[in-house]
Amino acid sequence: MKIGVFYSSGRGKSEFTATLIKDLLKESCDIYKIADKNTVENLKKYKAFIFIVPTYGFGEPHEDWKKGIEAILKVDFKDRLVGIIGRGNQGFYAATFVNGMRPVYDALIEKKANIVGFTDIDGYDFVKSSAVVDGKFIGLPLDEIFMLQEIKERLESWIKNSFEEILDEK
Ligand SMILES: Cc1cc2nc3c(=O)[nH]c(=O)nc-3n(C[C@H](O)[C@H](O)[C@H](O)COP(=O)(O)O)c2cc1C
Repeated sequence: MKIGVFYSSGRGKSEFTATLIKDLLKESCDIYKIADKNTVENLKKYKAFIFIVPTYGFGEPHEDWKKGIEAILKVDFKDRLVGIIGRGNQGFYAATFVNGMRPVYDALIEKKANIVGFTDIDGYDFVKSSAVVDGKFIGLPLDEIFMLQEIKERLESWIKNSFEEILDEK
């Protein structure tokens, strides 16, 4: 079964992350920009999703996710799996690290999504993050400081752990 990957990107890191996911999943995923015209229709096509959300401003999702959240709120996510990837910078923005993930998560919870891919906070170095719920990140934060190889490894194991069942289905 295919995974729908939706992202926005102000400076290219999230877009690049989407290309790494394409390299890993090949024909098992389709990639979309979240601010596309047809987002609501595109969201309805999938049973599993990866959303890539960079944080900007005072700890907000990149501006295109405003439209993204509006689109999410128009779709029923019951019985649909969603993993959220946050792009951020824990060194520069230690007190709002990947905060942008949270409004996307809240919208998905409201629409009854099955959120997968919670991540241990061990191995990160930040002060505060609204993307931590019950002691875990609500998805996979990818920090600016991570080297390419590390990003690839984290992505691979996160996708495997979060979506194994879906990817085995034809
Ligand atoms: C103006 C500005 C504000 C930012 N604010 C935050 C923030 O509050 N928290 C955080 O974790 N990262 C923050 N970042 C870092 C970005 O999220 C990070 O560089 C990310 O990789 C950008 O992804 P993109 O290239 O896909 O847009 C900020 C970056 C900029 C330029």
